[in-house]
Amino acid sequence: MVSSKPVRPEPRAEVMAIDAYVPGKSAVAGIAKVHKLSSNESPLGPSPRAIEAFRANADQLAMYPDGASRLLREAIAKRFGLDAEQIICGNGSDELLSLLAHVFLRPGDEGLYSQYGFLEYPIAIRAAGGIAVSAEEVDLKANVDALLAKVTAKTKIVFLANPNNPTGSYLPFAEVKRLHAGLPGDVLLVLDAAYAEYVARNDYAAGIELVSTSQNVVMTRTFSKIYGLANLRIGWAYAPAPIIDALNRVRGPFNVNGAAIAAGVAAIEDAGHVDAAAAHNARWLPWLADEIAKLGVEVAPSVGNFLLLRFPATAGKTAAEADRYLSARGFVLRAVGAYGLPDCLRLTAGVEEANRGVVAALAAFMTGGRS
Ligand SMILES: Cc1ncc(COP(=O)(O)O)c(C=O)c1O
Repeated sequence: MVSSKPVRPEPRAEVMAIDAYVPGKSAVAGIAKVHKLSSNESPLGPSPRAIEAFRANADQLAMYPDGASRLLREAIAKRFGLDAEQIICGNGSDELLSLLAHVFLRPGDEGLYSQYGFLEYPIAIRAAGGIAVSAEEVDLKANVDALLAKVTAKTKIVFLANPNNPTGSYLPFAEVKRLHAGLPGDVLLVLDAAYAEYVARNDYAAGIELVSTSQNVVMTRTFSKIYGLANLRIGWAYAPAPIIDALNRVRGPFNVNGAAIAAGVAAIEDAGHVDAAAAHNARWLPWLADEIAKLGVEVAPSVGNFLLLRFPATAGKTAAEADRYLSARGFVLRAVGAYGLPDCLRLTAGVEEANRGVVAALAAFMTGGRS
């Protein structure tokens, strides 16, 4: 007897066990003007020079881009004093995080990350056939001892977002070095410094020194945050040459498009624009934190361009209710239930109008307004 069960290709079970990443909302039905404060994008947008470079690329659309992203790697190398041969560019840093998991994990190997670490890590680990292991945080902060305690003979990769999204917390460089010192030499440490440019702390470092002085550290960076180019999908990694070599073997041959390369070069050359974005954030993030804390919402200390807000459990004041209330008024924040933080929302610092508006709306919500 022929089975009646339809025959069809079956994805790997570990892939189907993954919950897809849900991006921050960008629209609200029936609301014309929306302030999107849900994806940590730059309120200042990109450098005008990057926009110009993007437009100038319009007559090149029929041609494949430079598969090696040479001009962009050279511009990054110049800006940070690095060797361009130790840089790889990606279609967003997400692509590079995923490639790293695929290159370094064998089925059944363990990939480690901290409890509230960026959600792409467990997705990338599982998609590569690995087992995602998380280490408990203390006060919404990665904990080096907890991470090291979870290292086993099967651990092959450790992802650390520094600063972390969605918590906004960071590890001082001495702690990152302690983590590195405690890892076996065959375990790769990935330092995801997507928000590095926003950090103004003397004890912070993105990780360049650690990459330069070891064989098992990679630093990833992005143009999606302070450079205001999230739409173009540009990330990069700085890594020891053998790791760059391995990644280059498996990445898409033209993984970064020509407009992205051109705009990325212009963006990194416009240091003034990055400074302006950092200054805007330094002006507004503390203001938002102070104003919101006064309303009885707990605000986690953040060195990024966003705040994690913890709402009371009281009916009428919960995070889910706040999310609905704010959305209905055109302020779109990020629900973080998928991170195991159902009582929290994440708020990106926006333009002045958005910042003042969201604080006023939150004040109305916390003092009684519900509908
Ligand atoms: C910590 C962290 N790493 C990486 C990324 C991904 O950035 P990209 O746009 O470069 O893929 C994000 C974006 O939200 C992030 O928050």
